[in-house]
Amino acid sequence: MSIPLVDLKAQYLTIQSEISAAMERVISRTAFIGGEEVKQFEQEFADYCEVKACAAVGNGTDALYLTLRGLGIGPGDEVITVAHTFIATTEAISLTGARPVFVDIREDTMLICPDAIEAAITPRTKAILVVHLYGQPCEMDRLMEIAQAHGLKVIEDAAQAHGARWQGHRVGSLADAACFSFYPGKNLGAYGDGGAVVSQDEDLIRHIRMLANHGRLEKYTHEIEGVNSRLDSLQAAILRVKLPYLDQWNQSRQKLAAAYIEALGNSDVILPVIHPNAESVWHLFVIRVSDRKRFQAYLKDQGISTGVHYPIPLHQQPAYRYLQITQGSLPVTEKIAQEIVSLPMYAELTNHMVNDVVTSIHSYLGQKIAV
Ligand SMILES: Cc1ncc(COP(=O)(O)O)c(C=O)c1O
Repeated sequence: MSIPLVDLKAQYLTIQSEISAAMERVISRTAFIGGEEVKQFEQEFADYCEVKACAAVGNGTDALYLTLRGLGIGPGDEVITVAHTFIATTEAISLTGARPVFVDIREDTMLICPDAIEAAITPRTKAILVVHLYGQPCEMDRLMEIAQAHGLKVIEDAAQAHGARWQGHRVGSLADAACFSFYPGKNLGAYGDGGAVVSQDEDLIRHIRMLANHGRLEKYTHEIEGVNSRLDSLQAAILRVKLPYLDQWNQSRQKLAAAYIEALGNSDVILPVIHPNAESVWHLFVIRVSDRKRFQAYLKDQGISTGVHYPIPLHQQPAYRYLQITQGSLPVTEKIAQEIVSLPMYAELTNHMVNDVVTSIHSYLGQKIAV
């Protein structure tokens, strides 16, 4: 038995002929940058996210950076976020010249703790960058309330949460702007790098599109200095094939997550907790165990791959030593970083494979198998 953490080939095989046709279409038109495919994808993804506009960009990190810049965030500003995320979240803040300010997470959902935010707000705070980690939306009503009370912008890092909902509304439509990654392993993944920003604010999206294309809206006129961060047409065409399948793939993940939860309900592992107002799209299925190294080694021996997202919180990374944040200042983040393990999760994973993973976990725990 061999069960990977994620299997991109399994998905590719289900849409192979459509992908080939889409790639052929782009290549035969030889319109490799911009053009119809990108324009169409931007409209389709904006519609999917229930927002007015979308700017497709080179990757999720750039989506975050360009959004922060588009919102006017720069040197001297502070942006509140979490240390329990991928470093791209804070790289984007630092790239603008602003400073990341970390707050702790809730122990149950492992997402930003709204109660921790107010104490971190200073006169320099300009925005809150919330991360819908593992596919689960943050508590957006409370977060927006806090932001409005203090005149702050809110940006969603939705790199792991395409299609998730908070109180019935799609991630991407819940704040000033939202940023997505189409890195291949994401719920909606390209066959290379890709990203997008969505917003109800069409002017903001126009500005971000300009920043992403050397500061121009027309070929030879550069309004400002920007960067080169465009989604290429081949990736747009691939994403257009995949987008209509996204809800069905997310539903498959939801069923698999329910199967894991039911089968592991009476065991000693700590299961993920989803807020009652949230609909997760289960980018990752993350449990907590007390002796992670031994747990992972045992599963590996059984042919089951696991991961850790993420083992070292950002404030403890060498890259952020300059912030001088002392050990123990984000106690929940630091604690769960020692315990989290990601189990195999992707739309094409079978119930049979989930049963095999669960059986191995029960045998590791020395318990009776109840699947
Ligand atoms: C939470 C989070 N934010 C941002 C990113 C950055 O996206 P990309 O890899 O497309 O630059 C990722 C993906 O890796 C991510 O998981």
